[in-house]
Order: sequence, then C-alpha cells, then structure tokens
Amino acid sequence: MDVHIVGLGNLGSAFLNGLKDLDVNIYLYDDSNEVRQSIQKNYSITPEKSLTAIRDGVLLLCIKPQNINEFFHTHKDKIEKDVLICTPVAGLEIRTIETNLDNNILRIMPNLLIRDKTGFIPYASNYEGDYLNFIKNILENLGTVKEVEESMFPIITALSGSGPAWYYELSNQLVNSGTELGLSLDDSELIIKELVKALPALVDEDETFKDLVNKVKSPGGTTEAGLNSLNNDSFDTIILDAIRKATQKSTEISKELTNE
Ligand SMILES: NC(=O)c1ccc[n+]([C@@H]2O[C@H](COP(=O)([O-])OP(=O)(O)OC[C@H]3O[C@@H](n4cnc5c(N)ncnc54)[C@H](OP(=O)(O)O)[C@@H]3O)[C@@H](O)[C@H]2O)c1
Repeated sequence: MDVHIVGLGNLGSAFLNGLKDLDVNIYLYDDSNEVRQSIQKNYSITPEKSLTAIRDGVLLLCIKPQNINEFFHTHKDKIEKDVLICTPVAGLEIRTIETNLDNNILRIMPNLLIRDKTGFIPYASNYEGDYLNFIKNILENLGTVKEVEESMFPIITALSGSGPAWYYELSNQLVNSGTELGLSLDDSELIIKELVKALPALVDEDETFKDLVNKVKSPGGTTEAGLNSLNNDSFDTIILDAIRKATQKSTEISKELTNE
C-alpha cells in the first residue's frame, strides 16, 4: 500500500516513525526545507516539497487547520477518487472535506504516542467497512483503534489529541514545585521523569483512576494532605475549564473551516 504523508511536523513525523517498519511504501511532502532536511537525515527518505498527482493508496493529511483550505484549493484536482483521505486535522469535519473531494474519508484523532505504536486512535468515516484494510493493516499497528460518533470529536480532541500536553504540563508544575521547595532542577526533573515512566505499569484495565488515587493515599498521610489542598483550590474546576476551552477551540476551528 502507498501512504502519502503531507506535513512532517510533530504529528506527521510521529506517523512516519510508527509506519517505518510496516509493509507500506511511504511518500513524504513538507513545505519546509528545514523539516525536509531533518527527515532526510533521520530516516533516509527524501521528502518532496509538495504533493504531485496521486492515483491510489492513502493520503495522510498532517498539516495545520489554517493551511487546509489553501491545500484543497491547490491540490484537489491532483487527488484521484480511489485515494483514501485520512485526516487528523483538529476541527476538520468530514462534510467540509466532502465539499472539496468525492473520496472515502477517514477522520482520526491520534496523539503523538503513535510514534511508538502506543497511541489511541478514535475514528469516524463516510464509508462502510475497512476501505483498503487501512484500519486493520496500518492503524491497528500504531495503537488502540475505536470507532466513535463524529460529533464527539471536539471533546476527544481535547482529551486525547491534546492529552499528552496535560500530563506534561502537570509534570512541569511538579518539577517547579520541587525546585521551589529546595531540590535542584536536575534532581526534580529526574524524579518526575522516573515517576512518569513507571506509571503505566500501575494502570490496570479493571481499576478506575479514583481507585488508583485511593491506593496511594493513606488516612492522615502526606498524599491526603496534598489532595485536600487540591480540592480546596478547586483542582476539578481548573481541569474542567481547560478541557472545556480546548473543546470549544476545536468547535471554533470547525466553524472557521466551514465558513459558518
Ligand atoms: N501535534 C499533535 O500532537 C497533534 C495531535 C492530533 C492532531 N494533530 C493535528 O495534526 C496536524 C499537524 O499538527 P502538527 O503539530 O504536526 O503541526 P506542525 O508541527 O506545524 O507540522 C505541519 C507541517 O506541515 C507543513 N505544511 C503545511 N502546509 C503544507 C502543504 N500544503 N504541503 C506540505 N507541507 C505542508 C508545515 O510546513 P510550514 O511550517 O513551512 O508551513 C509543517 O512542517 C494539525 O492539524 C493538528 O490539528 C496534531
């Protein structure tokens, strides 16, 4: 199968890394000379500057929402009907792509963990079944795949697409607290990095995160003191507000892309 990745920034290069050992022919495109050179150096594949005609296979669109309308305007006539359009672009709805192309469309919302084949990939499509076996043969190799209602994409984008950033920012704030209270930056970073690397081993399918919190905390102990402080400072509201803002942003981008 031919897979054409357009846009090799954070997500496009994560896809490339995840796909490089699979049985696919990879074709790469990026506007940026610097990005093309870096990909050439790290993967020994030479990307093109922009897409030329493609007749079949998969077009994996990994460019920013603000570049989408220009992309369709310039390239839609080069994309034949048999090509599967697969897009992780935040806010880009299937119906918006359908105004430009009469193709099978697979909308996905992965996160950067696909790089190491541990991603979560929710998807919605405008066709029945698994066209080109792309889901089974490719996506399922990059992480856990699940079909969802397209109307759920804004909240899924906020929770999963942006998901790594919430944990990294929490970790960043923990590191800052460590240094504020006397640890060196190196020691504080080391402690939190080791912690984050070890956490997945404790995540159990049968236990909720609330259960896991309860396992760490003991009555009258240090963890409970910190958790009470988080509660008093409305940690739940802070997180809910952040996820709500990210969800709204996704909806706003959709409206901009459909010119509503
Ligand atoms: N990053 C994530 O974790 C994540 C997660 C889920 C979904 N997404 C979605 O994935 C998309 C890409 O995000 P990103 O973080 O990877 O962005 P990025 O790092 O900015 O990468 C986009 C790349 O595409 C290039 N580009 C733009 N227009 C092009 C065109 N017409 N032809 C070829 N290359 C083009 C850009 O080059 P120039 O800079 O020169 O324009 C840039 O190198 C976004 O739509 C985002 O919503 C990202």
